Amino acid sequence: MWHPCTQMKQHETLPLVPIARGEGAWLVDFDGRRYLDAVSSWWVNLFGHSHPRINAALRAQLDDLEHVILAGFTHRPVVELSERLAALAPPGLGHAFYGSDGASATEIALKMSFHAWVNRGQPGKREFVSVAGSYHGETLGALAVTDVPLFRDTYAPLLHRGATVPSPDARLARPGESARDAAERAAQALEAHLATQHATTAALIVEPLVQGASGMVMHDPHYLARARELCTHFGVHLIADEIMTGFGRTGTLFACEQAGIRPDFLLLSKGITGGYLPLACVLATDEVYGAFWHDDVARGFLHSHSYTGNALACRAALAVLDIFRDDDVIAVNRTKAERWTARAAALAGHARVRNFRHRGMIWAFDADSERPDFARWCFAQALARGVLLRPIGRTIYFMPPYVITDEEFGLICDATVEVLDAA
Ligand SMILES: Cc1ncc(COP(=O)(O)O)c(C=O)c1O
Repeated sequence: MWHPCTQMKQHETLPLVPIARGEGAWLVDFDGRRYLDAVSSWWVNLFGHSHPRINAALRAQLDDLEHVILAGFTHRPVVELSERLAALAPPGLGHAFYGSDGASATEIALKMSFHAWVNRGQPGKREFVSVAGSYHGETLGALAVTDVPLFRDTYAPLLHRGATVPSPDARLARPGESARDAAERAAQALEAHLATQHATTAALIVEPLVQGASGMVMHDPHYLARARELCTHFGVHLIADEIMTGFGRTGTLFACEQAGIRPDFLLLSKGITGGYLPLACVLATDEVYGAFWHDDVARGFLHSHSYTGNALACRAALAVLDIFRDDDVIAVNRTKAERWTARAAALAGHARVRNFRHRGMIWAFDADSERPDFARWCFAQALARGVLLRPIGRTIYFMPPYVITDEEFGLICDATVEVLDAA
């Protein structure tokens, strides 16, 4: 086994954690030790492990159809899912193209944006603009619009790098400024860039409201509203990467709702199947879809993945949407988040905590510690206390499954305080 995002040599001293089963928000190892999954297994799990309703939906689907080629064929779960996603997303995103993981959604959107411009007679629009600290996946196209040096720099000679514009990060607000002011300053930098570069720019790609992989960097919705306005004005596509923020993570079903905008492409993955199966979806507008509608085959979007629109994954996604509807998840989460933010007050006031921040079902802060190995050390310390935390550098964050109880959230806070005391 060669593990993801890992320097394998570190496992000489830090053993892997073999997991036997999952129960709700808990992972259980072969010796019966339990770990509270405070990171939702890399941000995918929404309703806990081994959820009875998602399990039942998958069992039923197994008896009908596990998978079928999606070129030339279709099936019920993929049609139902496309219709329901289009109805739930900001209006006007009625065309669903499927992939597998998040990075494949990014690749699809980048290719689709460029190709749409080519088909519209503007082949010079071939650059992509991304935001400082962005993360959109590890494949070469996605890495080209990613701004995390540790992941990107080694592969830099292979990448078609575009421009990076300043982040609207609320922490960059100057004394006397609000988060909105910081967002406006970043929007002005974007405006200055697009004013001179729009003729060669295909799209701007953003992570709405929270830039996850660079350390749960949060910004004011004003940035998204301005980005939408500028992209429309300068004739540039807006790609909203909601791979992490989608499905309720920021407090609304999609983060874009909080800015009242509709992107040209909406990228979904991770939580879409409740953390069960790999699935990605790119929702696009009539305008984009129309650019490909032609007698010439080469003007179609000829991109494909073998498991595009996998029936089991789509069925899991439908079960997830049922849970959102039947359990009024967004409204219930709002009251949970209020209680949990209050419960985190002692942690927020800890002497080692800087920039405590919260949006929806994400809590994060930067730890004041000199330890060069802080992230690994903290992971091991939390694990010893029965909590799965996976800091990003010195940023500790909680992104739990929505189903954890008040007691379980308290346990995460208390374990984190203990770890900070020991730091
Ligand atoms: C915003 C964002 N985009 C894209 C990706 C890539 O998704 P995947 O890891 O499924 O390829 C991630 C993964 O963390 C992400 O957070």
